[in-house]
Amino acid sequence: MTIKRVRTPAGDEAWLVTGYDQVKTLLADRRLGRAHPDPDNAPRFSDSAILGKPRQATAEEEHEAHAWMRRSLAPSFSARNMESMRPRVRELADGLLDALVEQGQPADFHEGVAFPLPVLVICELLGVPYEDRADFRRWSDAASTLNDEQKSLQGMGQLFAYMGELVERKKKEPGDDVITRLIESTPPGQEEQIAQLSGGLLFAGHETTVAAIGRGAMLLSLNPERWAALRADPSGIPDVVEEILRHRSPVSAGPADSGMPRYAMAGLDVDGVHIPAGDLVLLGIDQANRDSERFPDPAAFVPRTSNPHLTFGFGPRFCIGAPLARVELSEVLHALVARFETFGLAVDLDELSVRTDQLVGGVTELPVSWTA
Ligand code: HEM
Repeated sequence: MTIKRVRTPAGDEAWLVTGYDQVKTLLADRRLGRAHPDPDNAPRFSDSAILGKPRQATAEEEHEAHAWMRRSLAPSFSARNMESMRPRVRELADGLLDALVEQGQPADFHEGVAFPLPVLVICELLGVPYEDRADFRRWSDAASTLNDEQKSLQGMGQLFAYMGELVERKKKEPGDDVITRLIESTPPGQEEQIAQLSGGLLFAGHETTVAAIGRGAMLLSLNPERWAALRADPSGIPDVVEEILRHRSPVSAGPADSGMPRYAMAGLDVDGVHIPAGDLVLLGIDQANRDSERFPDPAAFVPRTSNPHLTFGFGPRFCIGAPLARVELSEVLHALVARFETFGLAVDLDELSVRTDQLVGGVTELPVSWTA
């Protein structure tokens, strides 16, 4: 059976879909959406402001808002534009590794590389001052708290207010960045939408990739033969990047019985089970990525020739930042294997502390050591 009833982190009931084919089909199914006709009484995924109480909208309103978002963002984040960032991303990764080495070992890879790299990159792209990172780190961490609605709403509000001020500044002093292009391509009077979109990008553009880079470094540190193979032949890096993404989605935090939340905007049948309109459906990306019918020996970390994982979603909501995340992951791996002969965890695996109370998982610290 690929569908079952589960409880969400908020304590409400939902359908969890787990089979690869079903999750993939439903990710692209327009009968499933983010909005709900009666938000106050809708079952909730979490108490976070991001994936908590749904917005009130009809299916058409939601599709329209979504189409505007894709039209506004897709050109800036195209695969071609992101490819052109590759040398700069590598330069940033090398700079962070220089600082890590200088600091001496063991060093915290999370704080030294996995966190700052995506933040530096998204700040440069959006035109957000990097010096403000401590503030937006705090706000986005608060916003993604799963179990404290007030804290989450407050963090989200602060992030949007900050972005609102930045949008006003950029109207007066335009830059060569995504926020300025958004302002220029949007009719006046939509500053609030631009601030929200930009806040969402700042959030989506770093939290997930931080977790993915941390997981990648951890998986490789546990697989010295793979490390040696990549060092000898870095052309294997793209396949390793896909396997890092498949092995465990960086978006997954909280309980194991979880998935990407959607509401049924109309009744639908899945695997012979009827889901009534208004019900909450969790699309189990992690479970799909571990479906043994699609991925033989799914728990193993082995680069695969065919790796159609669903970590970036599928269909109309496919992750806009996927090309950027792939460039960041592959450049950080290139920089790492070029520099270190060996690379390993400086503590036991079970000593690592993992975030479980936030939308995006990952470790809070990753002590590593190496030989150059
Ligand atoms: C490893 C890193 C990342 C992962 C695992 C990831 C994952 C995802 C997933 C699963 C979705 C689909 C959500 C859904 O179906 O409802 C998504 C959407 C999105 N992602 Fe990412 N993401 C990553 C990096 C990024 C980056 C770097 C950016 C920004 C530059 C970004 C921006 C977005 C946006 C704007 C959407 C919304 C797309 C839409 O609703 O049409 N993501 N991401």
